Amino acid sequence: MVLLREWDPADAPDLAAAINNINVLRNLRDGVPYPYSVPDAEDFIRSTLNADPNSVYARAIRVDGKVVGSVGAFRQENVHHFSAEMGYYLAEEYWGGGIMTIAVREAVGEIFKTTDIARIFATPYSYNAASCRVLEKAGFVFEGTLRKHAFKDGRFLDMNLYAVLKEGLI
Ligand SMILES: CC(C)(COP(=O)(O)OP(=O)(O)OC[C@H]1O[C@@H](n2cnc3c(N)ncnc32)[C@H](O)[C@@H]1OP(=O)(O)O)[C@@H](O)C(=O)NCCC(=O)NCCS
Repeated sequence: MVLLREWDPADAPDLAAAINNINVLRNLRDGVPYPYSVPDAEDFIRSTLNADPNSVYARAIRVDGKVVGSVGAFRQENVHHFSAEMGYYLAEEYWGGGIMTIAVREAVGEIFKTTDIARIFATPYSYNAASCRVLEKAGFVFEGTLRKHAFKDGRFLDMNLYAVLKEGLI
């Protein structure tokens, strides 16, 4: 069973085990430490617990009592105040089982129900077919390609812009 719940400091070892993997990190933004230690996970969990819940949505993904990943959404600023950017990852041994599709659907439903956010978007690297597919299965619409929108590991990368609107769901 896939369950989303708030982070707990006791999740730090599971979180570190999930994200301390170059196959996960190469698909994320830069800035996440590698190797990723348990103290790094403790820092992350502490910061999410101290964050303003109106601006930051952060949940641990639990499967059979174990934390196997993370899903979050971050309210944007200024004229983008009613938009939030979503990000997520899963421990590699759990890939391909439909877990993230369930997690993203649940997270989107909870955010639209409990906040005034009107739009949730995500920008996976265009090559990341699994992430694009997760978003499509969770009801996001492909809005276009952001050409060479990222520079990572020495090369420019296109990103795909996906979004879901509250008015489309509720
Ligand atoms: C991307 C990620 C979250 C997907 O999680 P997951 O639980 O494996 O995803 P799901 O099983 O719910 O769905 C994956 C879908 O992608 C498809 N897929 C996987 N690899 C694919 C590939 N190389 N080409 C095309 N489709 C692919 C699967 O077949 C599945 O679609 P289907 O149900 O129609 O068959 C996970 O792989 C991950 O954490 N990757 C590293 C971090 C990352 O990329 N985060 C997202 C950053 S935007």
